[in-house]
Amino acid sequence: MAILCERPERVAEVVAGIGGEVRAAGDLAEANRLLHADGAETLVVVGPETDAEEALAFAARLRVERPAVGVVLVRRNVDVALLTRALQAGVREVVPAGDVAALSVACARSRELSWRFAGGPAEPVREGRVVTVFSAKGGCGKTTLAVNLSAVLAAGGQRRVCLVDLDLAFGDVGISLQLDPVRTIVDGLGMVGHLDERGAASLLTEAGPGFAALLAPVEPGDAERVPAQLVAELLVVLRGMFDHVVVDTPSQFSEHVLAAMDASAHHVLLTTPDVPALKNLRVTLDMLDLLSYRRDVRSVVLNRSDAKVGLSEQDVERVVRAPITARVPSSRDVPISTNRGVPITVATPAHPVSTAIARFARAGVLGEPAAPARRSWRRRGAA
Ligand SMILES: Nc1ncnc2c1ncn2[C@@H]1O[C@H](COP(=O)(O)OP(=O)(O)OP(=O)(O)O)[C@@H](O)[C@H]1O
Ligand SMILES: [Mg+2]
Repeated sequence: MAILCERPERVAEVVAGIGGEVRAAGDLAEANRLLHADGAETLVVVGPETDAEEALAFAARLRVERPAVGVVLVRRNVDVALLTRALQAGVREVVPAGDVAALSVACARSRELSWRFAGGPAEPVREGRVVTVFSAKGGCGKTTLAVNLSAVLAAGGQRRVCLVDLDLAFGDVGISLQLDPVRTIVDGLGMVGHLDERGAASLLTEAGPGFAALLAPVEPGDAERVPAQLVAELLVVLRGMFDHVVVDTPSQFSEHVLAAMDASAHHVLLTTPDVPALKNLRVTLDMLDLLSYRRDVRSVVLNRSDAKVGLSEQDVERVVRAPITARVPSSRDVPISTNRGVPITVATPAHPVSTAIARFARAGVLGEPAAPARRSWRRRGAA
C-alpha cells in the first residue's frame, strides 16, 4: 500500500512507478487523513503538483510523528538546493518527474527502510516476491524447477507470475514452454534508465493464464549486450506488476545473477545427490555468506532425490551444512513433459514430481503452513 498525493487528473503519470496498491489523495490534508486512518501505512509519494514548501513541512512533521513512514518527493526540477532542504526535512528520496524506474527504486528502498525501522519480522515487505533459482553446476534442473514453480504459483490464473530467463546466453525457458521468442530481454536495451511498466510489459510473452515469461536472447552473442542494470530495473518494475517473479539463472555467478539475488525475497539453491553438484553448492553457500546474503531466505532443494547413487540425505546435509527444504524425485516423465512444452505440474498435477514442487511452492515460497491449523485459516503470501 502507498498513498499518492497528486491532483486526480495527474495521478496516472506517477502511479506506475509506485507499485502495488495505491490510494490517491487530492492534497496533503487528505493524505494526512488517510495516514491517520491506517496505522500500518509506510509510504507517501508527493507528486509534482504539490507545493514544495508544503511538502517539506509535511515530511518534517511526519518525521517526528510517524518516523516509520517514508516520504518520496517527485519534482519537475531537482536541484542541489531542493535536495539539501528535502534531506533536512526528512524526505527519503527526491525523484525527477517522469522517471518511472527511479521512482520504483526509490519506493522499494523506502519500503525496506520502513520495514527495518518498524523492527518487522525477517521477511521484508515487497509487492510481488522475487524468487531466484540457482545452482552452480549445470543440468541440476534449474529451468525445470523455475518453469514448474512458476506454473504452480500461477495456479491456472489465480495469481500473476512472471518467469524471467536470466540464462542470457543459453536460456531455454522459451523452448521448454514452446514459446515463440518474438520479444526478448534484448528489446529492453533502449529502456535502461527509464523502464516503466508499459515498457516491461512490451517485453513479455504470454505463457499461460496468469503466467508471463521474459525470454532470453535468441542469439547467444546478445547476452553480453544486456547490462546488469537492466536486470535490476526490470525486477523492480516486474515485482510491482506480478504477484511472483521467478528467475531462472545460468550456472555461474554473474553480475546479472547477483542483481537477481539482491532483488529476491527468496533464494532457491538446487543440487542433485552427486559429489560435483554438492561441492558446487557448498561453494555457492560460502559465496553467499561472504556476500552477506541473509541465510533465512535460502532453501536447498534436492532434485532427483531418489537417485540411487550411494549418497544418503544425511550425507548431502553433512556436505552442504544446511538442511534440505524440499526433495523432488527423478522421473523420465519430466523430460517427456518438457519435450512436449507442457510443465509436468500442469500436465500431470498428481505426479510425485508435481506434488513435490507444489508442496515446496506452498510451504517454501508462499510461506503457507503444511496443513491448515483450522478451517478459517487464511492464505498468507499471495498478494
Ligand atoms: N526430477 C527430474 N527427473 C528427471 N529428469 C529431470 C529432473 N529434473 C530435471 N530433469 C532433466 O534434466 C535435464 C536438465 O534439466 P534442466 O534443463 O532443468 O537443468 P538446468 O539446471 O536448467 O540446466 P542448465 O544448467 O543447462 O541450464 C533436462 O533434460 C530435464 O528434463
Ligand atoms: Mg537451465
